[in-house]
Amino acid sequence: MRGVVFDGKAVQVVDDLEIRDPGPGEVMVAVGAAGLCHSDLSVIDGTIPFPAPVVLGHEGAGVVEAVGAGVTHVEPGDHVALSTIANCGACAECGRGRPTMCRQAIGKPGRPFSRRGEPLYQFASNSSFAERTIVKAVQAVKVPHDIPLTSAALIGCGVVTGVGAALNRAKVGHGDTVLVIGTGGIGLNVIQGARIAGASTIVAVDSNPAKEAVARQFGATHFLPSADGDAVREILPTGADHAFECVGKAALIRQAIDVLDRHGQAVLLGVPDATTEASFLVSSMYLDKSILGCRYGSSRPQRDIALYAGLYREGRLLLDELVTKTYPVEDFAKAADDAHHGRVARGVLTF
Ligand SMILES: NC(=O)c1ccc[n+]([C@@H]2O[C@H](COP(=O)([O-])OP(=O)(O)OC[C@H]3O[C@@H](n4cnc5c(N)ncnc54)[C@H](O)[C@@H]3O)[C@@H](O)[C@H]2O)c1
Ligand SMILES: [Zn+2]
Ligand SMILES: [Zn+2]
Repeated sequence: MRGVVFDGKAVQVVDDLEIRDPGPGEVMVAVGAAGLCHSDLSVIDGTIPFPAPVVLGHEGAGVVEAVGAGVTHVEPGDHVALSTIANCGACAECGRGRPTMCRQAIGKPGRPFSRRGEPLYQFASNSSFAERTIVKAVQAVKVPHDIPLTSAALIGCGVVTGVGAALNRAKVGHGDTVLVIGTGGIGLNVIQGARIAGASTIVAVDSNPAKEAVARQFGATHFLPSADGDAVREILPTGADHAFECVGKAALIRQAIDVLDRHGQAVLLGVPDATTEASFLVSSMYLDKSILGCRYGSSRPQRDIALYAGLYREGRLLLDELVTKTYPVEDFAKAADDAHHGRVARGVLTF
């Protein structure tokens, strides 16, 4: 079968991947569509270290093809969005409703794929850039058939991460002020999460001026090319209640902290190189300010993905509008180039 493989040096689309059968508690999914998130590009350029060879992709949706023993919540033919959180369901973190903190779901990549006899790693417990993948039952979340798979695909990372950061981690409240640095797939979803939460002012910041229209479409009330300088204070004279960094650069993390109002919080979503350090003025923090990390929107995928599917059907959550362009998987290089140069909100690979 076809898939996108990174061997540690180069990335290529292959057509001779194989996958094992689903074991107990696992679901085999025929992937219909998969979004290209910046984190896939970060594996290729080394920003996110991951063992190779690996089948990339972590934002996908498809049709259940087979289920292993004990799986009862989905059956062949069901449409599912795929989460990246292969949590165990039995530890203290899972029990307290924090599946993204489950230690079984972090840093334990499996190898369900093979090619010419060599096993390949699964990226983010997901590998949605393959015609078929295997996930744990908890990762396969049923979605209605009337959501196009190209749109449902984006729920599994961009939407869950961005909307979840606003709703679950920051807990943006009615009337709050929000600043979002970086309006790619993640930032646009923070923006719409803040809009859904009832934020009063949502300032979008992106160095690419072409992003203004889509940022406003998702709910931004203002758009700036930079969060540096006086422009933010003209819109938010006392600063922002919530500032989200959605690029992954130390200088922008600093900007997110510097624009905070009293009791404000900076939420860090962007993933810089693993050794990156960031600094802030300690004296700027005393007025009850906070810096929050956030993994995968602090989400509970079975609950949140169903919630987002419902909001989409009510017209409150935009999904179709995130899909700027679709590409057959063979055109991965073109999709990666368009994403790298900021030509798309999200590019989506199809199978
Ligand atoms: N925390 C998590 O769980 C999680 C999940 C998914 C992705 N991520 C990370 O989030 C980040 C964003 O991912 P994405 O898919 O939205 O990326 P993307 O490439 O789609 O978007 C990045 C945006 O940032 C803008 N940008 C770049 N430099 C800028 C600057 N100096 N100032 C302002 N804007 C700038 C670009 O123009 C682009 O619009 C990545 O680092 C990714 O690895 C984190
Ligand atoms: Zn992602
Ligand atoms: Zn667990």
